[in-house]
Amino acid sequence: MSKLWGGRFTKSAEEWVDEFGASISFDQELVKEDIQGSLAHVKMLKACGILPPGDAGKIIEGLHTLQEKAENGELSFSVEMEDIHLNLESMLISEIGPVGGKLHTGRSRNDQVATDMHLYLRNQTEDVLLLIKSLQKAILKQAEEHVETLIPGYTHLQRAQPISFAHHLMAYFWMLERDKQRFTESMKRINISPLGAGALAGTTFPIDREYSSELLGFEGIYENSLDAVSDRDFILEFLSNSSTLMMHLSRFSEEIILWSSQEFQFIELDDAFSTGSSIMPQKKNPDMAELIRGKTGRVYGNLTGMLTVLKGLPLAYNKDMQEDKEGMFDTVKTVIGSLKIFEGMISTMKVKTETMRKATSSDFSNATELADYLAAKGMPFREAHEVVGKLVLSCVQQGCYLADLTMEQFKEASDLFEDDIYAALNPYEAVKRRNSAGGTGFEQVKIAIGKGNTLLAE
Ligand code: ARG
Repeated sequence: MSKLWGGRFTKSAEEWVDEFGASISFDQELVKEDIQGSLAHVKMLKACGILPPGDAGKIIEGLHTLQEKAENGELSFSVEMEDIHLNLESMLISEIGPVGGKLHTGRSRNDQVATDMHLYLRNQTEDVLLLIKSLQKAILKQAEEHVETLIPGYTHLQRAQPISFAHHLMAYFWMLERDKQRFTESMKRINISPLGAGALAGTTFPIDREYSSELLGFEGIYENSLDAVSDRDFILEFLSNSSTLMMHLSRFSEEIILWSSQEFQFIELDDAFSTGSSIMPQKKNPDMAELIRGKTGRVYGNLTGMLTVLKGLPLAYNKDMQEDKEGMFDTVKTVIGSLKIFEGMISTMKVKTETMRKATSSDFSNATELADYLAAKGMPFREAHEVVGKLVLSCVQQGCYLADLTMEQFKEASDLFEDDIYAALNPYEAVKRRNSAGGTGFEQVKIAIGKGNTLLAE
């Protein structure tokens, strides 16, 4: 097979050199987008009178045939044809004859590949947004059932104050909401058309970039042809947004792993999202959560890789930029897979409310209640902190908790203590009373869930 750009060459590259330069092994992922881009391009050429309707018609028909073949998995790509663009063009020529060679009029692979990537990321971003939404739904559903389920809240992984389990879950809802905002915002920069920028300088043909952009559903065109073919910011943005999303999922994964351990026993993952051990029959491992935590690494890696590829590249297109694809495909696959798994894991997990509740009453996480109690009665908070610190110490020495202290012992520490102190120490009351905006008080949590539901209904 001779190269589509072979005219200037007297000698062909050896197979292993071709292999090194080729991207077809991975950019065949863009087959659908490449055909879509070509269809818009040829329709524009026809509308502008650059190609006679007869020729354009044949090309359009040929592209539809290729589209069908692609859908049925009937296309076989060759390394010699280097990439998806040249493979499809040579297939088109085989399909309809030399007239197929007119498709590339007024176009370069540089604006072609950029167009493909914009179309591809637009599709994938839409999918990612839907999947984030499904995960948020699963979180909301669990939250609705666990408004009054108490769990210790932690700082430094030490029990800090009791909270509503729903409140803890909802923290992830809001992280995901920001992820959605970031992906949505990035669409403005994904959804613009580089098509018609040519190799770097535009073209001598009287093309209509607005028209091909419109056909492709883009919201506008790049202002500068050099920028159009060399911009990969939109990919960086996708990789960066994906990294933040995966960071959130990995933090959630870590909590799921901790909560399902023998030490916590706060949740039990469904068998469908756990695996056993080949040697230890008792094991039920949270593999999926661990994998998502682990896969976060490759997503960060892909971002760093892309930033590094682009660093210092002169304008306009450089072959280095072919390296933008594998990391991006890998990130798309990882993010989509992780979101799907997460949704399943969250909707099927069992919450062990009794262990959680016990954990909130067999610790010192109600110590702040005592300090707040004294402060509410006029003692400066700093002093109250000191009084309660001493009570905690004496409990630790006696081997009991604050609610086990007698009224006498409380009075000894401060005569501001009254009988109602026992009610104040109750973790349920402690949670309920944290009714400040965005706090863990049950009323606040219900408000947050309501807001969440409204957002998802939009
Ligand atoms: N396979 C190439 C890429 O992915 C397509 C663009 C090639 N352009 C060129 N001038 N060699 O970047």
